[in-house]
Order: sequence, then structure tokens, then C-alpha cells
Amino acid sequence: METQDLTPTAAADATDVSASSSAAAAAPADLTHYQAVHDRMRFDTARFATAVETASPADRAGRLRPLARWAKGFAHELHLHHSVEDDILFPDLVARIPRVAVVLDGLEADHVVVADLLERWAPAAERLVDGRVPFGPAQAEMLGLAVTLRDLLARHLDVEDDEILPLFARHYTAADFEALTQRALEQLPKRGLSFSLPWNIAAMPADAAAEALATAPLPLRVLHRVTRPRFDRLVAAAFPEGGA
Ligand SMILES: [Fe+2]
Ligand SMILES: [Fe+2]
Repeated sequence: METQDLTPTAAADATDVSASSSAAAAAPADLTHYQAVHDRMRFDTARFATAVETASPADRAGRLRPLARWAKGFAHELHLHHSVEDDILFPDLVARIPRVAVVLDGLEADHVVVADLLERWAPAAERLVDGRVPFGPAQAEMLGLAVTLRDLLARHLDVEDDEILPLFARHYTAADFEALTQRALEQLPKRGLSFSLPWNIAAMPADAAAEALATAPLPLRVLHRVTRPRFDRLVAAAFPEGGA
């Protein structure tokens, strides 16, 4: 018996042939950065959980201090990423493909859960390095948050990569998606950029990063040049072992 795929995205695709046709006529959206950011989030949340789990009280005088600074920068970057999805990317997508709303509702609910978790993130990172706080409970608190975030994001990012990015690839031209990216850049708050900008560039493959920098507005290029060495030193100090 023939089965019918009734998933929201499949249904949306079936009813949006005209958008697909026009997108196919032009260069498709370049999702290199979007995909690279998701991959780096998986990598970073995994290695952060490992770094916390393997820490000892002696590390309070060493790698935990830069790790706590890195954790606060990463939390802010994650907040920015979800804000861009909630405010710009997802509303534009659902306006074009209404049936994707049910998937986006689930993703936005995840963003709310993450925002709540991140409220506790910076205080936990501070307790992790505070010599007046017993190490064991501080480590357990940070590790609990880190593992919860790692596991939630692993599922969440899989949904975005499997259900959402292919829709942008199929229904948006390069110019369409670039326009959304520009809107995101225009509303970017300056606070936290000294971490977020080099983090985003470092997440990309080298050739794509070079191309992104070559076409970025001059102030962003200058900011990257100024902030990247310090960011690289912070990462090296926070993760002396490197990987996850
Ligand atoms: Fe995302
Ligand atoms: Fe998301």
C-alpha cells in the first residue's frame, strides 16, 4: 500500500511549489555558517561538560578561571543565536511555509528552557572558581547544567539540521538568506561581541571564514582582528586538552 508522508515539512513542501521553483532558479542559500555554528555548539557543549567533570579543586588556581570566563561568553553567544532564530529566521520561514509552525513551536519552547537554564549558568560558573564555596557542590551544580544543556542541544540541533536548514536551502535564494543575515547583524547588541564574533568565525571552515571576513563590514573586520588573539588564548587556557 502506498504511504503518504504527512510530516509538516513534507506537507509544506507539497503546497509551496512556486517558492521552490523560484529558489531553484537562483543560487541557493549559503548555510555554511549556520551549519558550522550548530556543529561547534555540539562540540563546545560536549567539551565543556568534560572539562567540568574532570576538574579538581587544584584547577581553581588554573584552567577553571578561564573556563568560567569562556562559559559566560558561550552562554551569551547561545542567547544571541536563539534570539536571531526567534526574531528573524523562524518568523520569516513560517511566513513562507505556514505548516512548519508545529516544528518551530517545539524549537522555540526549547529556547525558553535553555534561557531558563542560562539564568543559572553564570552564577554557577562563578561558584565553580570561588574558593569560599566548597568545590564538590559547585562542580556538581555546573556539571548538571552542562550535561542538561549538552543533551538538550544535541536533540534540538538535530531537529534544526534535519527539518529547518533543508527548508532554507530549498526555499531561499542566496540573496534572500543574505538579507536575513544582514537584518541579524544590524540588530546585534554590542555587548558580548568580543567573544561572539571570534567564536563565530572560529566555528567556520577556514576558507568560509576567510570569505566571510573579506565581505564583512569594516568595523566587524577590525573588531575580529582585535579580539581574535585574546579569544584564542582564552580557549587554549580553558581547554588545554583541546577536544571533547
Ligand atoms: Fe540554531
Ligand atoms: Fe535553536
